[in-house]
Amino acid sequence: MLVVKNLMVFFENALALNDFSMEVREGEIVGVIGSNSAGKTTLMNSLSGLIIDMRVKELRKGGERITVYGEILYNGEDIVEVKPSDRVKKGIVLSRERHPVFPESSVLENLKIAGYLKKREEVRGAISSVFELFPALEDLKNRKAGFLSGGEQQMLAIGMALVVGPRLLLLDEPLLGLSPLVQKAVVDAIVRLRDEGSITVVLSEQFARPVLPVIDRGYIIENGMLTLTGSGAELMENPEIKSAYFGV
Ligand SMILES: Nc1ncnc2c1ncn2[C@@H]1O[C@H](COP(=O)(O)OP(=O)(O)O)[C@@H](O)[C@H]1O
Ligand SMILES: [Mg+2]
Repeated sequence: MLVVKNLMVFFENALALNDFSMEVREGEIVGVIGSNSAGKTTLMNSLSGLIIDMRVKELRKGGERITVYGEILYNGEDIVEVKPSDRVKKGIVLSRERHPVFPESSVLENLKIAGYLKKREEVRGAISSVFELFPALEDLKNRKAGFLSGGEQQMLAIGMALVVGPRLLLLDEPLLGLSPLVQKAVVDAIVRLRDEGSITVVLSEQFARPVLPVIDRGYIIENGMLTLTGSGAELMENPEIKSAYFGV
């Protein structure tokens, strides 16, 4: 479904992604695991196309020069220069890090805003699927998003991405700042999306522990470079991973 070949991203002369390659097959949950500043967000922004908008914006205000090299093939088509809005039309939808929601709008309004480009009946159907996935959100549908807990906001942010109608869902650090219990609820929902919603997922994460058991394959990234890859099970057995991420 997705093939990334030798991706390089520079912010001026700083190399954020260095010759990074990966592959995502239809129906998989693929994890990108790396510490802070490893390049996870840069990768997610490259896959979603947000990096193109950033590049244009920086160019316009005479800011830093952003350069992208390499290939991103989506169902065989090179999309490196495709705008994010056109990638959304192809089914590539990103839920950004730190769950940005509209704090002054209610849960329901946020979900409707996410579906502003879609037909009303489609949005209604999508919102009821979101409530099926996250029943807690339905009980809170009239609450202002700014008053939700971190976990509820993350569920809402994922819900908003789902309303857009992804085939390939990109989740940038969806577990950031959540308690282990809430992390588990979010991870379980991601697994259900793959199993019941036939959505392919790429998620990034700092901590391997909550995601390695459920990902089909994982890529370990350090300083913008791929250092290890394998199935979730293989990575869990890997001694380097064990010492770096599990402290054993
Ligand atoms: N807009 C930017 N301008 C300059 N450097 C950036 C920018 N965004 C990210 N970087 C740098 O790129 C590297 C990767 O960052 P990032 O992709 O945000 O990592 P992660 O999401 O894994 O924490 C870091 O060294 C970071 O400082
Ligand atoms: Mg990040």
